This record gives sequence, structure tokens and C-alpha cells, in this order.
Amino acid sequence: MAEQVLIFDTTLRDGEQTPGTSMNVSQKLRVARALAKLRVDVIEAGFPMTSQGDFEAVSLMANEIRDCQIAALTRPIEKDIEVSWEAIAKAENPRLHVFLSSSDIHLVHQLKMNREEVLEMAVAGVRQACKHTSNVEFSPMDASRTDRDYLVQIIEATIAAGATTINIPDTVGYAVPEEFGGLIKYLFENVSNIDKAVISVHCHNDLGLATANSLAAVMNGARQIEVTVNGIGERAGNAALEEIVMLFRTRSELLGLDTRVNTEEIYNISRLVSTIAGLIVQPNKAIVGANAFAHESGIHQDGILKEVSTYEIMRPKDIGIRKSKLVLGKTSGRHAFQDKLESLGYTVSREDLNRLFNRFKEVADKKKEVFDEDIEAIVADELVRGPEKYKLIYLNVSAGTTVRPTATVSIEIDGEQMVQAGFGTGPIDATYNTIAKMTGTKSTLIHFSISSLTGGTDAQGEVTVRLQEDDHVIIGQGSDPDIIIASAKAYITGLNRLESMKQNPYRSLD
Ligand code: KIV
Ligand code: ZN
Repeated sequence: MAEQVLIFDTTLRDGEQTPGTSMNVSQKLRVARALAKLRVDVIEAGFPMTSQGDFEAVSLMANEIRDCQIAALTRPIEKDIEVSWEAIAKAENPRLHVFLSSSDIHLVHQLKMNREEVLEMAVAGVRQACKHTSNVEFSPMDASRTDRDYLVQIIEATIAAGATTINIPDTVGYAVPEEFGGLIKYLFENVSNIDKAVISVHCHNDLGLATANSLAAVMNGARQIEVTVNGIGERAGNAALEEIVMLFRTRSELLGLDTRVNTEEIYNISRLVSTIAGLIVQPNKAIVGANAFAHESGIHQDGILKEVSTYEIMRPKDIGIRKSKLVLGKTSGRHAFQDKLESLGYTVSREDLNRLFNRFKEVADKKKEVFDEDIEAIVADELVRGPEKYKLIYLNVSAGTTVRPTATVSIEIDGEQMVQAGFGTGPIDATYNTIAKMTGTKSTLIHFSISSLTGGTDAQGEVTVRLQEDDHVIIGQGSDPDIIIASAKAYITGLNRLESMKQNPYRSLD
């Protein structure tokens, strides 16, 4: 029987540190519910000390989510630990995750502390955390660049102080698999009390080696891997949950390892996180990219038609991809719509159902055939939106070979309806110029892309924009069968995200 590796998901903490991403409290709760359904072992719900929003989100998850451990990240500082504990205390199985840098580079240039002081602080933090729970994890940050003897010393001391999980981060994604596997082996051979803790790894993807390094660690005895959905996270991100889980599932005979994850929920959560975080999954991304199961070459297609295993090592259905089906049309009723939502994995309240159904009817009026992808886009648009300072009421554009492109836009700003018209070099430029004038935004549009959700000229267009204002970079998305309306929705979603980023600033940690 395969040995179990624990999956510690940090989409809501490290994943939220992805540049351009911010999730509000209800969006975080939605992701946490999906993670629980996916059956990860631990959800790192946040870093409560960093903002009031994070504290609230972590508390709500701790109150609601069951059958998963809920972890909060904390520095080894008395106030942080108390605030973090307050946030997770009601969880079924709360975990305090204490971290402190251990490499000389960080000690000298960032912490300005010596090794003895850091060791003392780490031990004191773990001891204090243990007053609340025996489920305490300690991470010596930048472990892969830490002097090995000192790393052994700090691990021994924190285990002796009560830590039951020791996490070895490759914080800057610097390690290579043989080296990182060797480090884990070294720790097993040299940390005298290592049998009293689970060894975990947390690998960043700066050199594209996060999954390979995590695998090397597990081959050398680690039994917890820290991951994020779609591999999001600081800089180049973290080891991707879907890669690790499908690696163990697909090669279980060779590796003798597995996880408790329900792989059929992978595709749903990948789409949800992509929409909520506003981060498009690259088409060639392993497991969840749009091309992951697409076969282009004639020889491959021929093989697949004869016997799927010729060119496919996993089945799309293993990760929950269903064949795109024509589902509903203009005459479909509320009941059929609700059934369809449930089969796509969405259980919604009565109020949300009404909203979604109205939106579905609008799309079905414009477009004869409504596919699963259309419904998912409607759900994404309607349910994962955050607070809205700006709302699009209507949009009329005129454009063509003989007219100057003009947009007339009506938007609600803080509940007050306004109408204005403006020009541009094309209909989208006219729309954006007008919205920019009405909202007085100072943001710059740094990226715009449009794609079609399904085939056919009546397909819904999905628009993604990237906006920058000062240090904030955010992503907005919108979909509609009319690409100018989809563009306006994406822009307004982006402006709302910028607003909520300004409303929920991070506390400075000093
Ligand atoms: O990358 C890192 O070292 C971290 C720690 C807080 C675990 O995210
Ligand atoms: Zn990290």
C-alpha cells in the first residue's frame, strides 16, 4: 500500500503573495471550501498579523472548515502568535506555523541578528505557540542556503521546544534536486530528534524546479509538501498542487507514495483560483493548462484514436475535466440550470441562483447554444466578484469605417448613476477613455487580451486586463458574447480590485 504524503496548501497565504493578486474575505472562503472538498490535509489560511482582512478570513475559515487542519503563519513574536492563535483557535485542528530566517544572508542583511539570537528567538516562539496547541510547525526560512550545521542545531532546538512539523523552505528557488534531496538526507542523518517531527518542504519555482525538488525531498524522507493551486505564489510561485498530486497518483507503482486528495476536484479548483486570483493558467501548464490533454500532431491523434494510452498518461476525467457539452438554451428553466450548476460543482444559495439564472437568460438570449464553459464564465463573473465601487449599467458604442468611434457609458459610482460619452481610436479605446474619465482613475492599462470561450462566432469573449497604479498591479476579467461589453466589464472589475486593494492595506510588520 502506498505511503501517504501530507498536502499542505498555501494558496491562501503564499499564493496570495503573487504580484497583482488580492482576494477579499468571501473569495478566500470560497477557495477554502473548494480546498476542503479537494481533501488537502492542511490549509494555510493566511498571515493574520498582516491585515485585518486576513485576520477575518482566517477566523471565518477556522470556524467553518472541517476535516482539514487550518494553519496560520506567524513570526516568533509574542503579539503575532497571540493574534494568530486568536484567529485559528476555533478550528477543528488548528496549527501555528512559526517562521524565522536562518541563512547568514538573511541574518546579516535583513534581521541584523547573530545566530545565537535567532536560535533563541525561534525556540521562544515555538515554546509560546506550544502553550496553545501541540500542532506547531517551524520553518527556518531560506533553509536551502543555511549553513548545514547551524540548520541541524536550529531544527534540533525547535523540535525539543515542541515543534511537531519542521518545514525546509527553498525560499528563493535556488536548490537543484540532487542537492535538495541530499539536504533532507543529511538532516535525517544528523538531527538527533528528527523522529519526533514530520519533515516538510516548501519549494519555490524560480528555476522551474519546485516540483522536482519536492519530489527529491520526499524520496529522501520528507512526508509533507507545501503547494499552491496552479503553482501561484511569490515571484515564480510555489510547487503546484496539481503536479505533485498527479505525480504521486500516476507513478504510484514506482514511488509507492500517494495523497488523500480527490483528484477529480483539481480542474474545478484550478479554474476557481485562476478567476479569483485573476491569474490566467498558461496553456501548456502541466495538468491544468488548456493544452494539457490536446493532441495536435497527426501521428499522436492517430495513436489516441486507436488506444488512448499511446499518448496519454492520465485521463482528463481523473482531474475532473468533462467533455464540453451543449447544455442549455433559451427555453431552459431554472431547475435545469440549477442541476447543471450542481453537476459543475457549484452549490449556490437561492439568492445567488436568481442572479446567475438572470445572467444565464441574458447570455442565452444572445447566443443559441450555452456550453459548460459559458456557465463557468457566468459563475466566475457573478460569484467571485469583490465589493463594487463601480458598476456597469449600460454601454452603447458606435464604430465602423465611416464613423468616429464613440462610447456612451452609464456606470454607478458608490450607488450614484452617471452617464458620459467619449471618443477613441476604436470602440474599446472609446469605452476605456470614457470609463477612465468618469472614475478619475490614475491606473495605466499595461496588458489587454481577449480569447474565445468556445468555438463559433457567437462565442462569449473573455477579456483580461492588467492595470497598474503606483505599486499595485491587478488583473481584471470579464466575459460576454459582445466583446466590447466584455472589455468594459474586465476594466471595471480591475478598477474595483484596485479600490479594494487600497481599502485593505497591509499592516507594516516591524
Ligand atoms: O518561502 C518561504 O520561505 C516561506 C516561509 C514563510 C515558509 O513562504
Ligand atoms: Zn514561500
